[in-house]
Amino acid sequence: AKRITIAIDGFSSTGKSTVAKQLAKELGYVYVDTGAMYRAVTLYALRREFIAEGHFDPHALIAELPLISLKFIFNPDKGFGEMYLNDENVEQEIRQMQVSQFVSKVAAIPEVREMLVAQQQEMGKGKGIVMDGRDIGTVVFPDAELKIFMTATADERAQRRYLELKERGENVTFEEVLENVEERDLLDTTRKDSPLVKAEDAKEIDNSHLTLAGQFEKILELFKEAI
Ligand code: C5P
Repeated sequence: AKRITIAIDGFSSTGKSTVAKQLAKELGYVYVDTGAMYRAVTLYALRREFIAEGHFDPHALIAELPLISLKFIFNPDKGFGEMYLNDENVEQEIRQMQVSQFVSKVAAIPEVREMLVAQQQEMGKGKGIVMDGRDIGTVVFPDAELKIFMTATADERAQRRYLELKERGENVTFEEVLENVEERDLLDTTRKDSPLVKAEDAKEIDNSHLTLAGQFEKILELFKEAI
């Protein structure tokens, strides 16, 4: 069968990674979570204290970009690749609220985007890939055979993310999560470099009122039309 490139973009916490993983598993494709890469760079910046509440030194981060190695290493128990920052597994740490709070600022730095986009394009060279993010259908793979743009109301998305964080034992309130989701939406859609926007040829899926199974069925249909 022909192997294609599948780009899944959308606002934060729309469940992109859930469907992307499901789809990759079903098709035997590689799944790449590009948000994890921006999160890992943010974690690096936090540890080096280039970014903190009320403080941001993008130039110091840019100067150290060559020191940052990002790798996905497949975890057979989980069925997807986990994020390694300079050979340390940071899969858990990059999901914490602290990283979420700063990641959209780091992701707005053109030098950061340039480095990560190049790595993403390299990973997708062989096709047979499902990649999720904000600019996959517009910038990383403008020629992707299948582009999906996922949306849901901010409330619905914050509710899902809140439950996820709670389950992991994080001490957050729903209001904090909602605020973070809305702030990231705003920063992601208004930044100068590669803002979040639906690609003209992307198929939009609003999953506010879809079950996971219903959504997956829709996406499989789109896949069949695309190949
Ligand atoms: O997908 P996730 O919510 O983990 O992404 C975290 C942040 O990384 C986004 O809010 C966005 O600022 C940034 N991002 C991006 N481009 C991508 C993927 C993520 O700017 N392709």
